Amino acid sequence: MYLGLDLGTSGLKALLCGADQRVLAEARADYRADVPAPGLSEQDPAVWVTATRAAVREVAARAPAIRTDLRAIGLSGQMHGLLALGADDRPLRPAILWNDARGGGWAGAAPRDTLAITGVGPMPSFTAAKLHWLRGAEPAIHAAIATVLLPKDHLRLWLTGDAATDPSDAAGTQLYDQGQGRWSDTMAAAVGLDPSALPPIAGSATVAGRLRRAAAEALDLPCVPVVTGAADTPAGALAVGCTDMRHAMISLGTGALCIAGAEGYVPPADPGLHHFAHALPGRFYRMGAILNAGSALDWAAGVTGQTTATALEALAARGWGGPGRVLALPCLDGTRSPVPAPDARAMVLGLGRDTGPLDLMQAMVEGICLSLAEAHDALARGGPVATPTVIGGGTRSALWLTILATALGRKIAVADGAAGGSALGAVRLAMLGDGIDPADVLTAPATRPVAPDPARAAAMAALRDRYRRAWPLADL
Ligand code: XUL
Repeated sequence: MYLGLDLGTSGLKALLCGADQRVLAEARADYRADVPAPGLSEQDPAVWVTATRAAVREVAARAPAIRTDLRAIGLSGQMHGLLALGADDRPLRPAILWNDARGGGWAGAAPRDTLAITGVGPMPSFTAAKLHWLRGAEPAIHAAIATVLLPKDHLRLWLTGDAATDPSDAAGTQLYDQGQGRWSDTMAAAVGLDPSALPPIAGSATVAGRLRRAAAEALDLPCVPVVTGAADTPAGALAVGCTDMRHAMISLGTGALCIAGAEGYVPPADPGLHHFAHALPGRFYRMGAILNAGSALDWAAGVTGQTTATALEALAARGWGGPGRVLALPCLDGTRSPVPAPDARAMVLGLGRDTGPLDLMQAMVEGICLSLAEAHDALARGGPVATPTVIGGGTRSALWLTILATALGRKIAVADGAAGGSALGAVRLAMLGDGIDPADVLTAPATRPVAPDPARAAAMAALRDRYRRAWPLADL
């Protein structure tokens, strides 16, 4: 048996699988992000440990054989955060999360070669930007930093007693030299950090310690090996076998991501595209990140007195006759791709007195798909993007998938509803760490094709043209 722990933004998922990757038990313990002021997002790392105890104990109650048959634990976690520890390994302040907006000053302070070194232009939501902010706003805490960790790495510190990270999580900090495969002294100096505060980097599937006795007792598990683990995005890619140029993935969740495998490291042409170390040795992936997908639908449903699920059902019943007059740019929280625009805000254009709640929802779905198409096409300008395997909650909506294929102008492959997830990626890393052959572990899920709607292609192209003309107004 292999246990995957995925430390998310809103909860911790524990997934227990057999050696054939069949799910034996799963459990989730939810927590919240604290919002001390609008735009801020923090978490007390103690909640991660509490949630791990709750979720693992629930899994163990469902599959008691875990106590004798567990072979290894894998980890995955939310990216780009900052957990600053003092000399006693205790947090100096709550962790600042990836969706916290206070790093805005970083763009003007980042070194000129940030894109070439770190694989993406200066990003105000990444770890480096948070350290830059901390240096100015909380200098005493900045000066007391002994170790900087990412969320999953703090969990592993509790599990094993060892501080470490892996290339794929280091990649998302903007302190990592993607080409050299090590921490960047230039980037650390730019945020006033002694490079010795950055943890050793070990392979995502490398065994990074064993469950220490106190943690094993707290979880009621044997003292098994724990692998370093990976960032949640590449862990999700591993879960659908998206590991090289022959694969691509689109994830439709709260936000949306378009990922393509890559050969070696080449800094992207656009500063809003990411070229990051993957969770397998020497592998990379390219990514476009849209911050609002499901969250934009939730907003539109909320202001029109619907729920997203019922609105999507009503849209499906109405059928998609192609775009109408309404155009929505869904970037409520700004966007990272294809250009970094943290201050961009959403727009809805073309409202008439006949516009109803469902028209707004349809425009939002179309706008999300067009945003993804912009990111996808920018990625494709840098190298081939294979047929994307689509995962995430959005795959439950056939209408959303047809609009996506039509916006992209290409066939997509939709993964079986149960497929994927970062927790499965964590399970797979535990299996690799236990010595199982990657060819047996990194299999692709069953998919079904969804084709573009040829009758709507011209109307979608016209809507895309309007989207592009409207974009500069969203990013004033
Ligand atoms: C990826 C990203 C998110 C977070 C959320 O770049 O920002 O996937 O990792 O967990």
